[in-house]
Amino acid sequence: MNRNVVWHKPQVNRGMREKMNGHRSAVLWFTGLSGAGKSTLAHAVEERLYKMGIRTYVLDGDNVRHGLCGDLGFSDVARRENIRRIGEATKLFVDAGVVVLTAFISPFRSDRQQVRKLLGDDFIEIYCNSSLEVCESRDVKGLYERAKAGEIRDFTGISSPYEEPVAAEIVIDTGNLSLEDSVQQVVNYLAQQQFFTLPDSSPTK
Ligand SMILES: Nc1ncnc2c1ncn2[C@@H]1O[C@H](COP(=O)(O)OP(=O)(O)OP(=O)(O)O)[C@@H](O)[C@H]1O
Ligand SMILES: [Mg+2]
Repeated sequence: MNRNVVWHKPQVNRGMREKMNGHRSAVLWFTGLSGAGKSTLAHAVEERLYKMGIRTYVLDGDNVRHGLCGDLGFSDVARRENIRRIGEATKLFVDAGVVVLTAFISPFRSDRQQVRKLLGDDFIEIYCNSSLEVCESRDVKGLYERAKAGEIRDFTGISSPYEEPVAAEIVIDTGNLSLEDSVQQVVNYLAQQQFFTLPDSSPTK
């Protein structure tokens, strides 16, 4: 870090924003194969949280690659940088008092681990667990067919690995469950953990 770059301590901080919102902020990190249901589920959970009066925002793979990560490809190095940048972006959202839901394949365990390290208790990993066969049969974007025809290089599950989470907070069988049941499983977990509830005397971190 350049020694001329000095952190400016703001007067309004995260704890104050959380207090104003009436809930804590966090990251709900959806991971899984293409077609596993990350985007569908993240947006459906967002809708439920929105109706509960929780401030939310979804960061979705393709959309972020149009802007923030528009300069990155799909090599291992580029995927790493993609997730690193998104991790830093989610940290800003958390500081802003928002519950941010992310929908990225994020295939590498070490990258997700990095983000977990960056965010600590604010990070909830949600594994959308759907078999490759089911994802291929859905082929929502027609990408599996193109990858198998050799038209797309480094495609997760076909020509690039997906490393399953070993200790995700929530594992959802998105290959078999309905969308409604999947949403309910996430919401139940959060309710059970009283995740968004602020302690009586909210800390002003
Ligand atoms: N339980 C479920 N949860 C989420 N999606 C489901 C579920 N059951 C079926 N689906 C269907 O699976 C498909 C998932 O597509 P979606 O675009 O959400 O996948 P994705 O993981 O975001 O893929 P990508 O990484 O390519 O963006 C949708 O057509 C959705 O309707
Ligand atoms: Mg998606």
